[in-house]
Parts: sequence; structure tokens; C-alpha cells
Amino acid sequence: MSEPTIFTSDELRSYLRNAVSERRYLHSVGVAETTEKVLEHFGCKDYTRRWNGFDAPVFCGLAHDIAREMSDDQILEYCRKNGIYLSSEDIEAPVLAHGVVSAEIAMELAGEFPMSWYKALCVHTTGNAGMDDLALALFIADYIEPTRRFMTDERRAFYLGSASISQCAYRVLCDMIDHWRQTGFHDASSGSVAMKEFLERSAGCRYE
Ligand SMILES: [Fe+2]
Ligand SMILES: [Fe+2]
Repeated sequence: MSEPTIFTSDELRSYLRNAVSERRYLHSVGVAETTEKVLEHFGCKDYTRRWNGFDAPVFCGLAHDIAREMSDDQILEYCRKNGIYLSSEDIEAPVLAHGVVSAEIAMELAGEFPMSWYKALCVHTTGNAGMDDLALALFIADYIEPTRRFMTDERRAFYLGSASISQCAYRVLCDMIDHWRQTGFHDASSGSVAMKEFLERSAGCRYE
């Protein structure tokens, strides 16, 4: 692996500003701030908060969509070159793999950050079973951050009024699955189905 070139959140922010569109940059800053708020709101403390001067919500928020503007071909090529396993779903819709590619690029830039951060980045798009509080907060923040045009304050209040971070993520997930179906973008991916079943089984989540 190449030597890290980014050592602070400010450097990561500057990198991102040059690497993605203005819209994506503002979305990522919004996700960083909202991930922090969600963790605080639900009183989550059980995650690796700091590494090498980086703060988990800021780092993950800024890094989560680094690869989001790569084309399908670029994502497939990156994964092939770097030996990243892709499921048949990912190969069919490479945009689903932008989480893992973002995680890999972030690691090239900043070095070997905690595995829990890596996992949160990997699963932020569709979700998966076994997500910790950091991964759930990033997943929620990606959907409700302030620049999301489809999101109303009323809806945000509904999500944040959930009894737990698991219930909040469950509500977001169910609404995302519905949204994907309605827009004909794609059906629930296996990661989303696994996340839904996991939250129902482990935290007793129901849509209410
Ligand atoms: Fe994303
Ligand atoms: Fe995002």
C-alpha cells in the first residue's frame, strides 16, 4: 500500500472539494455533521471515536462518497485491479459498490483506519446485517442530511423521534426500499434485506 498523504480532517475536506462536484461535496459535509448529530441524539458511545487525529463521524461522512461519481466502468476496473470481490448484484449495478471503493480510496489516502469505520463506509449504500452504531448513524445521515431535497423537516423529525438508533435506521431503510421500488431504480438488494431481517430479529424493529 502506498504511503498516506492525508493526515487531518481539513486535508480530507480539501481533497474531497477537488475530487467531487460541489453538490457531492456539500452532501458529504452534511453527512459528516449529521452522523455526529445522530450519534449524539441517540447517546451512542460504543464505537471507535478517534484514530490518528481523525474523528469517526467526520472521517466517515467526508469519505463515504469519494467514489460516488466514478462511472460503472471505472468502479469495475478499480475493483478488478485491486482484487475487490463483487457480488453479481454489484456487477449488474456497479454504483452499489461505491461504498467499498470509497473505503479503499480513503485507506490509500489516510492509512489503515479502524475496521469498524471501513465496514461503515462499505455498507452505507444498501446496509447489511450486523451494523454497529457508527454504521447505522452514517446510513441514516446519508438519507436525512440537510441538502437532501426530497426530505422534509417533518420526516426528519419522524426518524429522529424513533426510540433507538436501530428503530431510526429501520424506518429509513423501509422508506428507502419503498422509494427504490416506486422509482423503478432497483429492488431491495440482498444487503438491505439482510439489514432489515437483522434489525427485526436483534432489536425487535417493526415499521410504526
Ligand atoms: Fe453513497
Ligand atoms: Fe451519500
